[in-house]
Amino acid sequence: MAIPREFIQEVLTRIDIVELIDARVPLQKKSAQNFFACCPFHTEKSASFSVSHSKQFYHCFGCGAHGNAIDFLMQYDRLNFPEAVEALAKTAGLEVPHTETHATKKTIAPDLYTLLEKIAGFYQQTLRKHLPAIDYLKKRGLTGEIAKTFGIGYAPNGWDNLLKAFTASRQHLHEVGMLIQKEDQHYHDRFRDRIMFPIRDRRGRIIGFGGRVIHQGEPKYLNSPETPLFHKGRELYGLYEAQQANRTLKYILIVEGYMDVIALFQHGVTYAVATMGTATTANHIQRLFRYTNEIIFCFDGDNAGRTAAWRALQTAFPLAQDGKQMRFMFLPDGDDPDSFIRRQGRETFETKIQEAQTLSQFFFHALSTQVDLSHLDGRAHLAKLAMEHIQQLPEGIFKTFMLDELAKRTRINTTQFQPKKTQQKNILQPTQSRPTTQLRRVIMLLLQQPTLAQHIQLPLPDFDQRGGDILKTLLDRIQSNPKITTGALLEQWRDQTDYASLVKLAATEHMIPEEGIEEEFKGAISRLRLQSQKQHISKLLAKAATTPLTGDEKSALQTLISESQGEQ
Ligand code: UTP
Ligand code: MN
Repeated sequence: MAIPREFIQEVLTRIDIVELIDARVPLQKKSAQNFFACCPFHTEKSASFSVSHSKQFYHCFGCGAHGNAIDFLMQYDRLNFPEAVEALAKTAGLEVPHTETHATKKTIAPDLYTLLEKIAGFYQQTLRKHLPAIDYLKKRGLTGEIAKTFGIGYAPNGWDNLLKAFTASRQHLHEVGMLIQKEDQHYHDRFRDRIMFPIRDRRGRIIGFGGRVIHQGEPKYLNSPETPLFHKGRELYGLYEAQQANRTLKYILIVEGYMDVIALFQHGVTYAVATMGTATTANHIQRLFRYTNEIIFCFDGDNAGRTAAWRALQTAFPLAQDGKQMRFMFLPDGDDPDSFIRRQGRETFETKIQEAQTLSQFFFHALSTQVDLSHLDGRAHLAKLAMEHIQQLPEGIFKTFMLDELAKRTRINTTQFQPKKTQQKNILQPTQSRPTTQLRRVIMLLLQQPTLAQHIQLPLPDFDQRGGDILKTLLDRIQSNPKITTGALLEQWRDQTDYASLVKLAATEHMIPEEGIEEEFKGAISRLRLQSQKQHISKLLAKAATTPLTGDEKSALQTLISESQGEQ
């Protein structure tokens, strides 16, 4: 990360999340510290989106959206992390410390974006003068209006049209993928005699092109190569246009082609995106889940479509998370979304969307075709196949649901399918669960109310659990900044494995009445100490059973025992 942590903390202390959100989503005051609104991240009639002034944290009880000021800008303004920090810094009147990567990005990029914007303009101009291209688009049913919305143009025939039109910028033309280098100093235009589709990033900046032949020719579609601005595995055609057309996206449809996105849009289905000649990547899916809670994959009904769907499912599976949905729809054999919607219209198409299979339906259906469910053998085989995938799912309601579903379909008890590892772990560590719960409780309360830290007497004993390290870091942070808020504390763990679970703890409704929190916290701490003492005692006793204890160990044991009796 190019931005120093201290700076991010500084920004977060200067920003008030209530003001920040209120400027975008008007908030209602519920108490001195708590504000409410209808959630901007899902459709709802009653207000379940809450913003806490003291925690500097928001949480929706409906859809589970949550985070600090940075997260809010990432979700609501759809910024990436550095952009969100930059926007907040600006509001706070601070300047982001410029590291090298930051500076270089700033000086080169705007030039290249402008250049691509100009090239798109050039192609649009050329289209107006080239009748065969206009005819082709008309024949495919496109209106002038839709051509304008998507900035469609035409790259004229010839080898050096861009070179002539943009004389000064050969190096830049090459850098953005518009030229092909033949020999040492010889360059020519990459796109010739093609209908041109500008590809925009999520902020609307042109980052590349797709070009289609008008008549016959190979390849049918030619795409910009990977460049500093354009990464196929990340970008989705039509996402910007979909965002522009819809304030919120209830779902997003993934289709195969440029023309599919455009035809759907023209017919009122303004929420489709396409990958560009590549399969859907995990990155695509993660990206889309920042804009919507539901992704619908749309495939042709033929065999190739089914194969592509199964491939998408394999990519999608480990990304399935509670609160996010993925569904699969199949068009009749021989149709693509473009031909289907032109013939059948929007309503029929949207009915088909409603009928799309859920991830689990498609998953079990696809696997079931491979086995004979009327025999136990076949069912056991299905169980084995399915478990290979289900094991990849993150822990949560969805995983439990899939395990139940598998048990139902195979009529085999799912506990048998659980990976051996966790079973062993449970047997070997039967006493682990209680301390974990205590520690979790302490961490939860501290995260939600950092001032509680003053009730902890240091030093704390060592805990043999990951939570122990988290607790220590938390206390450290709070000690060096006693006024730190929940939102700023969490920032410490972004990009780390524990982040998601900590955010969950921060958003947990613990139901402890305000006046009881301090007592509850002190109680949890002393139970933790006690547990740690007991663990220590049993370790020493276990050792004593095989080897004599040293003098130090003996006296430690005595102290521990008398202390623990005193506390009980
Ligand atoms: P299709 O061949 O299915 O064509 O390619 P299509 O989208 O139906 O196109 P039209 O209707 O004939 O115009 C689907 C997508 O695969 C990529 C493109 O992104 C295209 O939109 N593709 C296809 C390529 O990248 N290169 C090709 O040569 C063909
Ligand atoms: Mn097509």
